[in-house]
Amino acid sequence: MATRVGLVGAGMVARLHADALRRMHDIIIQCVCSRSLKSAANLAQEYGIQKIYPSWEALIKSGDVDAVHILVPNNLHKEVFEACVAHNLEVVCEKPLATRIEDALQMYRLAQESKVKTTIVFNYRFIPMLMYSKHIVQSGELGELRHVFGRIYQDWLSSPMAYNWRVSGIEGGPLRVMGDLGCHIFDLIEWITGRKVMELAANAKTLIPQRKAADGRSAKTFSNTILESTNYGRTIDVDTEDFISVEFNMELGVVGLVVLSQVATGRRFFMELEISGEKGSVYWSSDRFNELSVYSEKGQITTYTKDFRLLTPDVKQAITLPGNLPEGFNETFLGLLDAFYQGKSSMHNVVPSLEDGVEQVAIYHAALESAKSGRWTEVSRPW
Ligand SMILES: NC(=O)c1ccc[n+]([C@@H]2O[C@H](COP(=O)([O-])OP(=O)(O)OC[C@H]3O[C@@H](n4cnc5c(N)ncnc54)[C@H](O)[C@@H]3O)[C@@H](O)[C@H]2O)c1
Repeated sequence: MATRVGLVGAGMVARLHADALRRMHDIIIQCVCSRSLKSAANLAQEYGIQKIYPSWEALIKSGDVDAVHILVPNNLHKEVFEACVAHNLEVVCEKPLATRIEDALQMYRLAQESKVKTTIVFNYRFIPMLMYSKHIVQSGELGELRHVFGRIYQDWLSSPMAYNWRVSGIEGGPLRVMGDLGCHIFDLIEWITGRKVMELAANAKTLIPQRKAADGRSAKTFSNTILESTNYGRTIDVDTEDFISVEFNMELGVVGLVVLSQVATGRRFFMELEISGEKGSVYWSSDRFNELSVYSEKGQITTYTKDFRLLTPDVKQAITLPGNLPEGFNETFLGLLDAFYQGKSSMHNVVPSLEDGVEQVAIYHAALESAKSGRWTEVSRPW
């Protein structure tokens, strides 16, 4: 029988989920709700969704769904998650799991006790060439690991005239860039290397201390929309960071640096990740999404392309197009959701768990403490 899915939220990421779900077998997008009926109606029309509910509470209680996707601002994840578990519904929760470590721990324990099937959307794991980099690292080809460098730059909040719910410490959480982008890159770093971050030092800066937001209006996520000069609206004091750098020490002596910005003017989206060991380094960047370069100690550079014949069973599973035909960010959602719902065995170690979600909130929490105190801070894992 097909799984009936309900979408809670109808914004930017809801379109990516709907698009992926529509391409899957045995899945019906049954219904949607959002804060505004109009945005839910627009999404329903675009994706042929039959039902709209006036609230997430009504959707969850409806008896109409087997699974719920939580696609709302970060501060709402926990409440919606708890209601889903209480109704024994499967849950796909967007990242970050929560904005406070106490909440993330409660969600994790609840999921464990209830045995409800859950996942958290660390979809970057499903970028095929990053998935392949895990095999290279784990095969020992790079030798003992030494250091890691990761960077994500965006610029859609580069203007003081740009505002979005993420800017608010209440809705987005006290660290914005770290919660929005940091959880993806730290999840990748830990997942690919198989090592945990043990301690870190974070430098978080609010480079635009005041922003303008028209009442009731916020820039659409990633839209680069700024307010017209005639419509400046109210001034908001910003309490979350635009930029953060995090130095860290991992298990077995691996060291690293992550740099994240949402105000890197001109860089609409750029991400890179490099892992270096005693025998070589592996490098991926979003500018060459479907390639992966390995640098060897002999000075040889090998560039792998996304080709079925080269890759491992899990990477093959994550690929939707043959040969080196380009695929991209959309397909990472398809990869994750397909692996979650269809449960292919080659994907067991790839589908992120709630423990992976709480792990990232623990790193986030340590970064928050470190940014406040100016000190190196241990990542504590009380679970
Ligand atoms: N995995 C990824 O790569 C990725 C990418 C983007 C966003 N996200 C995550 O997805 C979540 C949503 O982000 P977005 O960019 O889609 O935001 P968005 O602002 O585009 O959409 C948020 C949606 O939530 C709805 N909403 C707000 N309050 C609600 C309520 N009380 N009841 C019902 N609906 C409500 C809004 O109406 C809107 O439809 C965030 O947690 C974000 O971190 C993840």
